[in-house]
Amino acid sequence: MTAPADTLRLEVTALGAQGDGIAAWPDGTRLHVPGALPAEQVQARRAGPQRAELLEVLRASPDRVVPPCRHVAEGCGGCALQHWAMPAQSAWKRARLADALARAGFPDAPVAEAAETPPRARRRADFALRRRPDGTVAVGFHPRGAAEVLDLSECHVLDPRLFALAGQLRVVLRRLSALGREGSAVVNLLDTGPDLLLRTDRPLDVAGRRLLAAFSAQAGIPRIAWALGEALHETAAQAGPVSIALSGVAVAPPPGAFLQASPQGEAAIVGAVLAGLPAKLPVRPRIADLYAGVGTLSFPLAARGRVDAFEGDAGAAAALDEAARRAVARVKAQRRDLARRPLLAAELAAFDAVVLDPPFAGAAEQVAQIARSKVTALVYVSCNPAALARDGRALAEAGFRVTAATPVDQFRWSAQVEAVVALARG
Ligand SMILES: C[S@@+](CC[C@H](N)C(=O)[O-])C[C@H]1O[C@@H](n2cnc3c(N)ncnc32)[C@H](O)[C@@H]1O
Repeated sequence: MTAPADTLRLEVTALGAQGDGIAAWPDGTRLHVPGALPAEQVQARRAGPQRAELLEVLRASPDRVVPPCRHVAEGCGGCALQHWAMPAQSAWKRARLADALARAGFPDAPVAEAAETPPRARRRADFALRRRPDGTVAVGFHPRGAAEVLDLSECHVLDPRLFALAGQLRVVLRRLSALGREGSAVVNLLDTGPDLLLRTDRPLDVAGRRLLAAFSAQAGIPRIAWALGEALHETAAQAGPVSIALSGVAVAPPPGAFLQASPQGEAAIVGAVLAGLPAKLPVRPRIADLYAGVGTLSFPLAARGRVDAFEGDAGAAAALDEAARRAVARVKAQRRDLARRPLLAAELAAFDAVVLDPPFAGAAEQVAQIARSKVTALVYVSCNPAALARDGRALAEAGFRVTAATPVDQFRWSAQVEAVVALARG
């Protein structure tokens, strides 16, 4: 029997940015084959203009392993690479960083080995919620490219305390009328326990508030914030204070605040940022921490100099400011939108070193000012190789060179590449 015309034997030549195998269809089209690995031969069916579905692995990569989680076979969007051995993943992430730097104009950048994070270490989760017709609630992640919610019965990336919360949410949300059809639950695991931000599709009534207050007290969740869809959140229940120590400084982050994905990832990034500063800074140096969040980098940087921290989100900037006032006189926090109002070249003249950790889109406007300024020492923390390549090009053209580049594999089993890049000029 011959295979249908849309089903072919393909050679997988590379891995794409989303973690898909890349293979060429006979007409030359570059196709993404989720689940396939470089150097494999696979049987695949054309499933779209640029996509093929993996039917069978005919010749497996020596780096193919059995995924530890059962949800991989269901297409869970949480992990893209559980079927690939960790050393191969780390080498690929390192190569992606080297490639981004080469595209920026730093072909000889010294790129270190990737720092790996262990399983079950993730301290942030963004659970999708979906009420089923029988009233029960699925709590989990979306399968890749699909709107449904995969109800999690296990998870190998989340801290077990976060995973346990998914089970508790399943029970309490069944009785919460504010969850009509769908919503989300963003949870940060703080030192004081899980901090929950619930987004639902119906208003929260008095009975709902009572239910959440009882859940907060009984489940050891000091704060539950609630929002209608994407509206601003409000506190729905508060049983106690919230706090997380960042390099020894207690911070009370706002609900849903950005935190580095795991304590190990945070430690690796902080270590690489401090190592990336010039060994010799002037007496009483001043350091700018741009896109500072709630101060993950500001507080450790204060050990090296006075820190001016700039952050666009009002809640995060206020939390950083309050923690700094209480604990670290050497950190001064300011709210500032660095896309609309980047620190100008003249303002940057006050600093002996600049650290920036922009969001996924990168920092085009801010980098343009840095390029124009007299800054000579820069540490760029990146979560997006494409943005790093683009911002890096402006820095290369302005005379910077890369002195160290460290990939941090803090999103284990995902295709995401995080990196700390130290640059200098002059
Ligand atoms: C990748 S996080 C880094 C936060 C912090 N450095 C850390 O390690 O936790 C990026 C931060 O940039 C902030 N941000 C996003 N767009 C911004 C803008 N236009 N101006 C200033 N800050 C912005 C976000 O609120 C977020 O806190």
